[in-house]
Formats: sequence, C-alpha cells, structure tokens
Amino acid sequence: MATFVPPNERNARSPHLPFGDHRGAPFYGKDVISVSQFSRTDLEYIFGVAKEMRAMVERVGTFDLLKGKILANLFYEPSTRTSSSFLAAMERLGGSVIPINEVRYSSVAKGESLPDTIRTLECYADVIVIRHPEVGSAEVAAKYSKKPVINAGDGIGEHPTQALLDLFTIKEELGQVDGLTVTMLGDLKNGRTVHSLSRLLSTFVVRLNYVSPEILRMPPELVEELKVKGVSQKEFDALEPVLAETDVLYVTRVQKERFESQDLYEKVKGAFVITPETMEQAKEKMIIMHPLPRVGEISMEVDDDPRAAYFRQMEYGLYVRMALLAMVLGKA
Ligand code: CP
Repeated sequence: MATFVPPNERNARSPHLPFGDHRGAPFYGKDVISVSQFSRTDLEYIFGVAKEMRAMVERVGTFDLLKGKILANLFYEPSTRTSSSFLAAMERLGGSVIPINEVRYSSVAKGESLPDTIRTLECYADVIVIRHPEVGSAEVAAKYSKKPVINAGDGIGEHPTQALLDLFTIKEELGQVDGLTVTMLGDLKNGRTVHSLSRLLSTFVVRLNYVSPEILRMPPELVEELKVKGVSQKEFDALEPVLAETDVLYVTRVQKERFESQDLYEKVKGAFVITPETMEQAKEKMIIMHPLPRVGEISMEVDDDPRAAYFRQMEYGLYVRMALLAMVLGKA
C-alpha cells in the first residue's frame, strides 16, 4: 500500500538542490533554475545522456521514454527555439505538451497571479517549463510547484538550458572547454544567455573577453562573482584586439525590449556586425555562436562559413532538453 504523504510535506520537495546531491535518483524531481546548480560531474552526466538522445533520434526518431508524462510549456515572453525545442523534445520522448505560448489568451489576461497559474498547471502536468520577464520568476514558480520547474529565461537573469546547450555545442565542436578563449559580444548587460554561460564556463579554465558598447557592459556584480572564482576576464569596446586569439565568438542581439529609451537603442543597435571580412581575421579552427534570434549582428553571408555553428547549436539544444526532461522525470 502506498504511504500517505500529507500535502504540506509533498510541498516540501527540495527545490533546486545542487544536481550533484545524489540522494536517491540523482536528478529526479529537481528544478533547473540556475547554472550555479551544476558541477562538472553533473555536466558530464547531462552531456552523456544528450549524446544518447541524439543517437536514439538518429536511429528511431521518436521513442516512448516519457510516454504518459505531460509537460506544461508556459511562456510569458516570445520564443521560437526554446519553446519549440522543449515541445519537440517531449514529443520525441513520447510525452505530451500543454502549450501556453501566448499568455494573453490564458487566465493571466484576467489577472491570475504566477503562483495560481503554477498551482493550476501542476494539477495537469508532470513538469513545468517557464519563461517570464521578471528576474527570479522561475524560482518563485518552483516554490509553489510540487512538480519540477525548468527556467526557460527569467528576464535579464538566467537562461540555464541555453547555457547547457551552448556548452554542449562547444564540447562537441571543439572537443574540449579547458584552455579556450571565449569572446562574448553585444548586449552583455541584458543578455541572460551570456550571464548563464559565463557562470557555467567559470567551472572550467577559460579566458573570457567581453566586447560591448560602454552602456551594455557585463553586470559588474557578475564580473565580481567570476573574479572571486579566479576567472580571467577582460573588457573591450572593439572586437579587433581579441578576434585572432578567440576560439569561441559568442555573438548576442542588442535586446530592444529591455531598453527604456528607443533613442538609446537606435544608437547602439548596429554597434557590431560580423561579416565575411571579420571572419578573415579569425582562427581557422574556431566557432561563431549565437543564441538567436539575430537582427543583423551576423551577416547572412557568414552562414556558409564552416565556423558558423549557430544553426548546429539549435539542434544540440534539442538533445540537451530531451536529456533534462528525462532526468528530472527520473527516466535517465
Ligand atoms: N535562444 C533563445 O532563447 O531563443 P528563443 O527566444 O527563440 O527561445
């Protein structure tokens, strides 16, 4: 007979414990809120599962690992890649999806609070993926949910699953992470992808270059956080001084939606554009990445360059998200 667990104890599920906490199944029931949760051992494990997912997709396309499981895909902000890759990941694993891609057609438009929306979805789903404009929103959602919550981007805060797929891309494309020089370019102030990726890279021995307009610098508190961890970081306002030494050029969009003044956005939006001429100065063995969408910061003429990894990067994301869903649902 199943043991009765009082509702208040069910709520006491430990939220976002470090993944390395191996009491019971290592990833079962855990939230994915910040990259700070992951140790190097966890990353190796996740990437091992992601490779198995890739092999299975290549062999059979879809399989029934998560048959009977339901994902609630809750997006308060626009998304193409994150939303559709989580949906594809769940369907390739044989599960189902409640897609809420446009919250204005949900009861959020009637004023429903985030906690109540989460309490609703946990009644119907086994795992919740959330994107929300406020920093800390995924953590709030996790607090109110008995089911695992995966952060798909909380404002300018973090985008942990993007950072995981970015790191997986680097490992698969260049074979290693230690010893690399990673140059991040663009809107480093508002770009949650670079916030998460720089934190995740601090687990490795890397050199980080930050190239941006003055007003879009990496947040000083994040630079300080990584400095304390001994990460080599340098800031620049031009790409030329660091391009020739760069192994990974991580380009980001200037985030129009985060600007209070459109005049200011217009002043900085075209600050950096990567062209075939730019790539002439880059190493032969390096990659250029972008979380996408792009709005002009990488010329389409660069797309055929074998070093352009940003479309391959999206596919790596499918396998990483399949791995995460299987793990938090106790099936990997
Ligand atoms: N990289 C990324 O988060 O893309 P979307 O905004 O399309 O999900």
